[in-house]
Amino acid sequence: MISLALFHFLCSLTVLLLLPLHTSAGDPDPMQDFCVADLQAHTSVNGYPCKPAKSVTANDFFFDGFTKEGNTSNNLGSALTIANVNVFPALNTLGVAMGRVDLAPGGLNPPHIHPRATEAGIIIEGKVLIGFVTTANVFHSKELSVGQMFVVPKGLLHFQLNVGQGKALIYTALNSHLPGSVIVSNTLFASSPAIPEHVLTKAFQADKHTIDTIRSKFGAKA
Ligand SMILES: *[C@@H]1O[C@H](CO)[C@@H](O)[C@H](O)[C@H]1NC(C)=O
Repeated sequence: MISLALFHFLCSLTVLLLLPLHTSAGDPDPMQDFCVADLQAHTSVNGYPCKPAKSVTANDFFFDGFTKEGNTSNNLGSALTIANVNVFPALNTLGVAMGRVDLAPGGLNPPHIHPRATEAGIIIEGKVLIGFVTTANVFHSKELSVGQMFVVPKGLLHFQLNVGQGKALIYTALNSHLPGSVIVSNTLFASSPAIPEHVLTKAFQADKHTIDTIRSKFGAKA
């Protein structure tokens, strides 16, 4: 005869053991084969509503945004081309997106965070230093060459720096249809409206002039 306390204990244990099975590492699973996003829809609930299935065609499932090299003629020497739900509506609800990163020699994809996705990537051309920092403030990095792969856990700060002689090309895959990108320098120094200057001088233990100088580089009004 099982006592009530033991019964409750066994129930709790069962729930605890099952818990990991119910966690999801990416976007929620879809409840249909596809849900090509209707980007013009006026409502949105954690994604986009589906375009009527009868108006979906083969072309909805193909994307040619990666065929062209990104233009790296900018201060960072880098160009990011992203295939997320906003530009490739067939990704809606499927929990996946991809990116193309072009880096000029010395080019940097600056420190940034994807709040909704883990990123996996592969070097297609060149030599790249991949680095990320854990929440325990440990920096992990490695120089990768063609064919080598990396992973950056969801939500962690990371960057990609071209350390080779020529240009570099990386393709990345992310487990969200809209991974989001928090580019730390832009977020801190070029938000709209601006973060109060006192917050930045205190956070960085820097004087007003230093903060104004950094802000001006990001096109923000001092
Ligand atoms: C690349 O971008 C630069 C700066 O915006 C521009 O002057 C140049 O024409 C662009 N090159 C191409 C091939 O689009």
